[in-house]
Amino acid sequence: MKCPQWGCSVAKDRWPELCKTVESDDDLPVRDVGSWTEDKLWFWHRYVEITTAAMAKHQKWNGMVYVDMFAGPGVCKIRSSERRIPGSTIVAAQASKPFTKIIAVELDSENANALRMRLQTIAPDASVIVYQEDCNTVIDKIVNDLPAGALTLAFFDPEGLDFEFTTVETLVKGRAVDLLVLFADAYDIVRNVDLYVSQESSKLDRLLGTKEWRDEWGKINNRKSVVICDFFATQFESQLRDQLGYKEFRRKRINGPKGALYTLIFASKHQKGGEFWDKISKRDSGGQMEIPFNGDPL
Ligand SMILES: C[S@@+](CC[C@H](N)C(=O)[O-])C[C@H]1O[C@@H](n2cnc3c(N)ncnc32)[C@H](O)[C@@H]1O
Repeated sequence: MKCPQWGCSVAKDRWPELCKTVESDDDLPVRDVGSWTEDKLWFWHRYVEITTAAMAKHQKWNGMVYVDMFAGPGVCKIRSSERRIPGSTIVAAQASKPFTKIIAVELDSENANALRMRLQTIAPDASVIVYQEDCNTVIDKIVNDLPAGALTLAFFDPEGLDFEFTTVETLVKGRAVDLLVLFADAYDIVRNVDLYVSQESSKLDRLLGTKEWRDEWGKINNRKSVVICDFFATQFESQLRDQLGYKEFRRKRINGPKGALYTLIFASKHQKGGEFWDKISKRDSGGQMEIPFNGDPL
């Protein structure tokens, strides 16, 4: 079914079809996750679908590349239901209009091997490189793998503050790269901000690529979680805007049973990226209308 606005196939949600490809136990490692992980992956799947549908064969680009900086083993298992869902790289490898190239990075050797084996079974024709390395140190190899003139979608999906701004900079400088970043605000920054302030060079400094946030931070009296989350997401977005030329930003807060967990930050250098994100994020994976981020209390 064609989307009337973009003329591309976005209306059909392929998520159930993708979940089916990983439903049987293959005796390889999985990631145990909370049910909210499905929302995160569903949004990304929808963005991948709408963007590849419109751009994979577009003459403006020399192909499309997917970069997954925290790839995982390829399958997540939801703790409460034992339901198996595809991890981010497996989602990308099954895009209805295939990527020209997929580059995945995973530090853990068991996860990296599981991902390689699953990719061979589920998407044998995909052109994939899996690096079993730290994404912050392998970044120079990754940029060498990127074809000039390609459109790249990159996913940063860490467990905490595990990537550095300089890594993002190396990846995106001089290239068209749409970013989705898991920004670990509620479950990391909110808990540890006092520690990060006290350290000369903290993980938070490296994530933001600056220490200048400390001056502004000192002026903030209201230290409620929601204020802290908003403050640091804004700092990160400002760095993307001022240092790297990003123009479009969207936030989607992901909640667990006890409140906010993290914020997904989508960023693009192009207006179309923001339009695509708006289009796919109107509904969540259960079909509910999304409530936009508006600084609601945690
Ligand atoms: C939240 S999980 C990613 C989940 C994955 N995107 C998915 O959809 O299943 C984070 C993964 O990053 C890996 N990891 C941690 N630090 C890393 C680093 N510096 N570079 C690359 N991978 C890393 C962990 O082993 C873990 O598998």
